[in-house]
Amino acid sequence: MVGVIEAKPVALRQAATLRTWRRDDFEAVWNRADRMLKQPRAVLEQIAPGALLGTLFYQNSTRTRISFEAAAHRIGGASIGFSDVSTTRAGDFYQESLEDTVRVIGEYADVLVLRHTEDDAAERAAAVSPVPVISAGCGDREHPTQTLLDLWVLRSKLGKLDGAVIGYAGDPACRATRSLVHALIAVNAAELVFLPPPGASFPDDIVRTMGEGGLAWRTVDDAARLMEEADAVSVIPFELSDFHQPAVRDHFRSERLDSRYVFDRELLARWPGVPVVHAGPRGPELPPGTDSLPNAHYFESVRRSVILRAALMAELLGRP
Ligand code: CP
Repeated sequence: MVGVIEAKPVALRQAATLRTWRRDDFEAVWNRADRMLKQPRAVLEQIAPGALLGTLFYQNSTRTRISFEAAAHRIGGASIGFSDVSTTRAGDFYQESLEDTVRVIGEYADVLVLRHTEDDAAERAAAVSPVPVISAGCGDREHPTQTLLDLWVLRSKLGKLDGAVIGYAGDPACRATRSLVHALIAVNAAELVFLPPPGASFPDDIVRTMGEGGLAWRTVDDAARLMEEADAVSVIPFELSDFHQPAVRDHFRSERLDSRYVFDRELLARWPGVPVVHAGPRGPELPPGTDSLPNAHYFESVRRSVILRAALMAELLGRP
């Protein structure tokens, strides 16, 4: 029948956490995104005509929310939802529960994307939702699509992630870290090298996960060593006022960012073969003077994020 696309059996049921994802799940999303990157808009719009994305953003976002909305439109669908909880019954007198809000909007939409202040919000949502749930970053727990995006871009630059040494600059307690660790274990990366901010400590569960997953890790104490020793580098904002461990937050209150933590133009230019991504919003750790360098992939990641999130939605919707 003309205009009808048959759904294929769905292997991936959720993106509330990457803890349960296997290598094949990552490859399915990334390979689909690789294909979609080459397709014209008219073809992409036939992937999920009429599909509805429900957005539940209990916390601010620029990149994640708006790229998800763009992704829904790009595959022929549309988005509904809220970005200001105070306009909903969850944010007024009724304080409607997360579970009921998810069940209500899950009856309107085909897939949900949730950003929330609480660590377990996405997994609680997935437990009651009638449709697949994607975490857009919840509490300090995980930020799955940031990891999917960063590693997709780095994979395309390196050719493969198996055996790669990935550098990671930022607070290890940040929600992006757990998703990254789960993914690097699944794809058999060789090592994760951290450049933590001054005062940061490592949450026990992250250390335990790396140990149990066989992911080697260590720390360095300046950006130059990270660039020298890693095959590729992922940077998260050094100033994350909502999420930092108190010791790190205090440091930023009292001092300017030490030059040892700055990925400036001179440093990136010295290591042109080391691709660098940044989750955004950027701060003093990645000055704008780096943007024109061939290994600075910040805005390329932003552009690709629509396709990556569209590919994830298509996978969860079981589209061919
Ligand atoms: N990287 C990221 O999560 O950005 P937003 O907070 O703007 O969504």
